[in-house]
Formats: sequence, C-alpha cells, structure tokens
Amino acid sequence: MMMYKKSVKVSRNAPCPCGSGLKYKKCCLNSPKGSGPDQLKKLYANAKKYNIRLKQQVDIEGIRKAGCLVLDTLDLVENEIRPGITTDSINTIVHEFTLKNGAIPAPLNYKGYPKSVCVSVNEVICHGIPSERVLKDGDIVNVDVTSILNGYYADANKTFFVGSPGPDARKIVHVAHESLRKGMAMVKPGNTIGDIGWAIQKYAEGEGCSVVREFVGHGVGFDFHESPQVPHYGSRGKGIELIPGMVFTIEPMINLGKKELIILDDQWTAITADGSLSAQFEQTIVVTGNGYESLTPYE
Ligand code: MF3
Ligand code: CO
Ligand code: CO
Repeated sequence: MMMYKKSVKVSRNAPCPCGSGLKYKKCCLNSPKGSGPDQLKKLYANAKKYNIRLKQQVDIEGIRKAGCLVLDTLDLVENEIRPGITTDSINTIVHEFTLKNGAIPAPLNYKGYPKSVCVSVNEVICHGIPSERVLKDGDIVNVDVTSILNGYYADANKTFFVGSPGPDARKIVHVAHESLRKGMAMVKPGNTIGDIGWAIQKYAEGEGCSVVREFVGHGVGFDFHESPQVPHYGSRGKGIELIPGMVFTIEPMINLGKKELIILDDQWTAITADGSLSAQFEQTIVVTGNGYESLTPYE
C-alpha cells in the first residue's frame, strides 16, 4: 500500500496485549497498580494511539480461512502460468475462483482499481493492471491476491517464473523471497516495526539490491489497509512495539537496480525508474505470545 499519514482511534474490547485471549477490560486493564503489568498497559495505549485494531482468536480464525483461499488461488494461478497467456487471463482465473468460493476479490473497484488482482511483470514493481499483455519465456510475474471471506481480508503474493528464468530473474526472485523471510523472522512481542524493515534492508542491500520505499506492508483483516504501516527499510528498535493480536502484511518490493520508481499515467502501475527487474513476496501474519504465525503460510 501507498504510505499515508497517521491517525487515532480506541477500544477497551480489544484483546489484551498480554496475549491471554481475554478482552483488555477483563484482563490487564484493571490489574491493581503495582501487581498489574503496567508495561502492557503502555503497549496497549500505544496500539490505541496508532489506531491499531488488535484481533481476537475468532478474528484470527476468520482471516486464516480467507488466507487459505488466497493460497489456493495462488496455487491455481501458478499451474496456469506459461509463455503465451495474457495477464488478463490470470485476472479471469482469480476472479472466477474467488466468487466460486463465496468470497470477494478485494482489489476490484478498490479506490477505482479496475481488476480483481494485481499482475506485475518484470520491471513493474506492483499494481500492474491485467491486460492483453502476453507473458513470454524468461519473464517474472508477481500475482497479488487479496480475498474477503465472511468479512475478513487476507493478502498474499508471490513472484513466479514464466518458462525458464535467466540469471537476473533468478537473483531478484531469490532475494525478494529471502527478504520476506528475514522480515518475518523478526516478528515477536517486544521487537518493533523498525526491526522488520531493518532486517530486510540489511539483507537486500547486502545482496546489491534496493528496497522500494513508497509502498509498505500494512495492518489487515477487518479492512484492506489498516494501521500500522510496515516499511521494508528502517532502524533496529525504532517504531511501534509488536503486541500479540496485531495482524499485518510484510511485502518487500526489491529492485535489482536502483530503488526509485515511476507511476504510469494509469495512476496505478509502478515501474522501476531504471527499468531493472523488481520482485515481491507477501504474507499476512499475526503476532503471537512468543513469535508469529502466518495466516497465508508458504515456504
Ligand atoms: N494487494 C496490494 C497490497 O499488498 C494492494 C493492491 S491495491 C489494488 O497491499 F487496488 F491495486 F488492488
Ligand atoms: Co498487502
Ligand atoms: Co497484496
């Protein structure tokens, strides 16, 4: 998602940040001063301040179901990808499969987006609009699927090879995939949003690649794009502290060349300014009591 400005909102009914699964008001909120985990109160106040809607167990199960559908959709698409197909045929597959499973493709009509999935080829960083463009041998193609099932949103993407990849394609897809893993490995209570971006940036730049700044991971579940923003660059220990019940995406966009981008006249398609290849992987994850769990898990 595109970076946006911060805002504020509240709820005593949100899950307790201690990870008990109880509502905050039934748990740590009323602990007697001194014996109560004041530190947790501070964390929860922080979540409120940043308008983060913590998820209860029932919500997490709902998002997980939506996530299963997203993964099934990506698997279906992967099987159809070959030289000669158009990116619009991927849109048709995603659209029909989503409806058939009783879900809604979140991208369709989202802020005027005209299709049901984003399909981003080669130098397209993200938000590629499905079209009559034909995939050719050696291309890389990112397919980003977000489904709404029973009101819950899950968001995940992968970059696929079309036919046989060359060395540059192999390199950027490997680095983007590994970047997601490095980011996910930082997720546990006590670490911060900044730790995630720091790990990704350090790794990707160490491989001679660059990290896109204009698009970030995001809270997700009740809505497509919630607070917090999750940059894929940053500093150790900086930013909001992670709390059990937070659900957000990590979705690093990594360029083989420079980090700068251009948005095309369609107002959606983002391409690398230098024309270099760009790849991305995304999962929706929940912070647990001692780490994280992916709600759209793949290797
Ligand atoms: N799925 C994208 C993300 O990861 C958002 C796409 S917005 C759309 O945040 F409108 F282009 F679909
Ligand atoms: Co996303
Ligand atoms: Co996405």
